[in-house]
Amino acid sequence: MKTLYVKTYGCQMNAYDSAKMADLLAPLGYATIDAPEGADMVILNTCHIREKAVEKVYSELGRLRGLKAKKARDGGRMVLAVAGCVGQAEGAEIVAREPAVDLVVGPQSYHRLPEMIARTARAGGHALETDFPALEKFDSLPAPASSTVSAFLTVQEGCNKFCTFCVVPYTRGSEQSRPAEAILREARQLADKGARELVLLGQNVNAYDADGWSLAKLCDALSNVQGIERIRYTTSHPRDMADDLIAAHGSNKKLMPYLHLPVQSGSDAVLEAMNRQHSADDYRRQIDRVRKVRPDIALTSDFIVGFPGESDSDFEATLQLVRDIGYATAFSFKYSKRPGTPASTMRKQVGEEVKTARLDALQKLLLSQQHAFDDSQIGKIQPVLFEKTARETGQIMGRTPYQQPVHVIAQPSLIGSVADVRIERRTANSLHGTLA
Ligand code: SAH
Ligand code: SF4
Ligand code: F3S
Repeated sequence: MKTLYVKTYGCQMNAYDSAKMADLLAPLGYATIDAPEGADMVILNTCHIREKAVEKVYSELGRLRGLKAKKARDGGRMVLAVAGCVGQAEGAEIVAREPAVDLVVGPQSYHRLPEMIARTARAGGHALETDFPALEKFDSLPAPASSTVSAFLTVQEGCNKFCTFCVVPYTRGSEQSRPAEAILREARQLADKGARELVLLGQNVNAYDADGWSLAKLCDALSNVQGIERIRYTTSHPRDMADDLIAAHGSNKKLMPYLHLPVQSGSDAVLEAMNRQHSADDYRRQIDRVRKVRPDIALTSDFIVGFPGESDSDFEATLQLVRDIGYATAFSFKYSKRPGTPASTMRKQVGEEVKTARLDALQKLLLSQQHAFDDSQIGKIQPVLFEKTARETGQIMGRTPYQQPVHVIAQPSLIGSVADVRIERRTANSLHGTLA
């Protein structure tokens, strides 16, 4: 028996890929452990989206170099692999900078890991695979060995949008949709292993388009899979919010009232410079259409502050958009210069202090909206899908249809099922209630 430690950075698609890598290596005798010390193989599944994310990877590699040397002194061998988006973007630099790295694979080529491990064991040196055979990858992945109650399922990969700040089109390749058939098969396998909720993943998941299947049609088919109670999807792009998908939020009872639709900025000038290809009012109209069919829908977004050229009034337009929409929760980031992207060489970069002040102001507003949204649930009864035991003894954790975590004192036997909960109070990041 050999041991494998996988550390995941970045988005949910990386989390999905990490689980797949573990499934792929299990037949080679690797059992997953939850710390790198003494492991026979370590995979860092990395994220390139912001500079800080990349720095974390290099400092972790430094630490692993030490662990690898110790393992060698003890007469063993630790195979060190870098997967994910930093691997894709900086593969050659990684092996030059960190000779302890044996293998580098990109997000579309990790299905070749077993063969690469064998190759380096035979011939020594390092191996590097950063092609983009996305669909070949999916065809070569094994069936899921286990599942959580809420399971990720990647249905779409890559991005053709080329927002001027973003590395994803370069690290994940162009937009590709998996055939519906393969997705339905994986959904049935996940349901057999205990999945009750599917979270459909894609960098542009609502751009899903495979042989005439739209995301709405896919959600309808998935809602007939035995055992599946809930369906969610993330992340969407405003330009791909098709009529049938909006309609599905009214007609498909298993499609949860939750939509993550990133807008990035409320200023038309900034949206244009970002190459988002829609205006702030286009976005407002999209939201109006969604709210018409599902007035209670929980809305979330991503925001970037301090994009090159963003003025005080541009930033004020973002705050105004947030006030107009009213979010359930949202993610916000300081603009981070990414090598090779058009925005990184734009003149008028915004200073760090201004970015910090804007991020603080935006996060304050978003947090007050999150609290208001959570507080609006207090006193109501909501169907909660229970996912796991919580750290606090005797409690189990589940989620409302709006994705809010709820803690309840109840039997762990409820995990995997939906029960009505009376919401009683809110703490910093969670709701608390009792079985109704
Ligand atoms: N496809 C999704 C986003 C994927 S990246 C979309 O188009 O909305 C996730 C988020 O990271 C983005 O929504 C953006 O808010 C943030 N992000 C991407 N590049 C960034 C950068 N260079 N600096 C700061 N935040 C960035
Ligand atoms: Fe990046 Fe834009 Fe593509 Fe989203 S749509 S992944 S932000 S390039
Ligand atoms: Fe990061 Fe790659 Fe996801 S850059 S956010 S891990 S697509």
